[in-house]
Amino acid sequence: LTVAMSVVVDSHAQDKKITLGFAQVGAESAWRTANTVSVKQAAKDAGINLKFSDAQQKQENQIRAIRSYIAQKVDVIAFSPVVESGWEPVLEEAKKAHIPVVLTDRNIDVKDKSLYVTMIGSDFLEEGRRAGRWLEETYKNNPGPINIAELQGTVGSAPANDRHSGLMEIIKNDPKFKIIASQSGDFTLAGGKQVMEAFAKTYGKQINVVYAHNDDMALGAIQAMEEAGMKPGTDVKVVSFDATKGGFQAMIAGKINVDVECSPLLGPQLMSAVKDIVAGKTLPKRIVTNETVFPMNVAAQVLPQRKY
Ligand code: AHR
Repeated sequence: LTVAMSVVVDSHAQDKKITLGFAQVGAESAWRTANTVSVKQAAKDAGINLKFSDAQQKQENQIRAIRSYIAQKVDVIAFSPVVESGWEPVLEEAKKAHIPVVLTDRNIDVKDKSLYVTMIGSDFLEEGRRAGRWLEETYKNNPGPINIAELQGTVGSAPANDRHSGLMEIIKNDPKFKIIASQSGDFTLAGGKQVMEAFAKTYGKQINVVYAHNDDMALGAIQAMEEAGMKPGTDVKVVSFDATKGGFQAMIAGKINVDVECSPLLGPQLMSAVKDIVAGKTLPKRIVTNETVFPMNVAAQVLPQRKY
């Protein structure tokens, strides 16, 4: 009798296990690595069966992964969209199959908001504004011109679009700020280094500020500037995003001036959203991550508490 009962309990528990299909962007940055670890660990902790795929920063790979999750009839699909546009067809397919979709980290540009349940992640536009406000404050007594070289993230991605627009919103009415060069380094260290090498050759000492859309590109740009005889952090101010440990170490070394936080630790929030969806609860359409700004002078004190 005891054996029979335990079999019943086990099969019941198995029936209840939620399967989540997660389509990740790739492994382009320290941020992304921390995000993947957070999602995997949180799934384990929540007892959720996770199917994970890495799109290597290609939208077509992500679409293929989502289609395979639909075919496998997972309970919920979550993904961090490489770019903002082009998602309607595959999300219509998920909707037809009655599989709820959660967006994490990056947003998408769709008219029909019923194609996803909720979006969990940072407000990239506000991050860009925060960086812009820092620049305004830093240069308030400087008549300019202040020439900015921008290292953009992946073309068409929400963080690249919004970190650019957020900055523009703040500096557009102050003619002393000029973006003299802007190019994508695809959120990678190698990309940031390569683009900065070209900027250094073309603009050299004219550059006052490097505005890098993430820490990996900022770290690559720092290498390129040093190789070109420039002094990041002093001659050239470096503004960056994410606030990874690498970013903090560069601030302590005096080479990044400010790091606007973007938290990758979205796993626990995602898993609780997934459980709520399966339980039939209604979720807010947007769940915004709590974040701040770290100027270089606080870096040494804050680094020991950083988790990524
Ligand atoms: O979408 C979040 C961004 O993507 C992070 O800023 C960056 O490091 C990552 O690659």
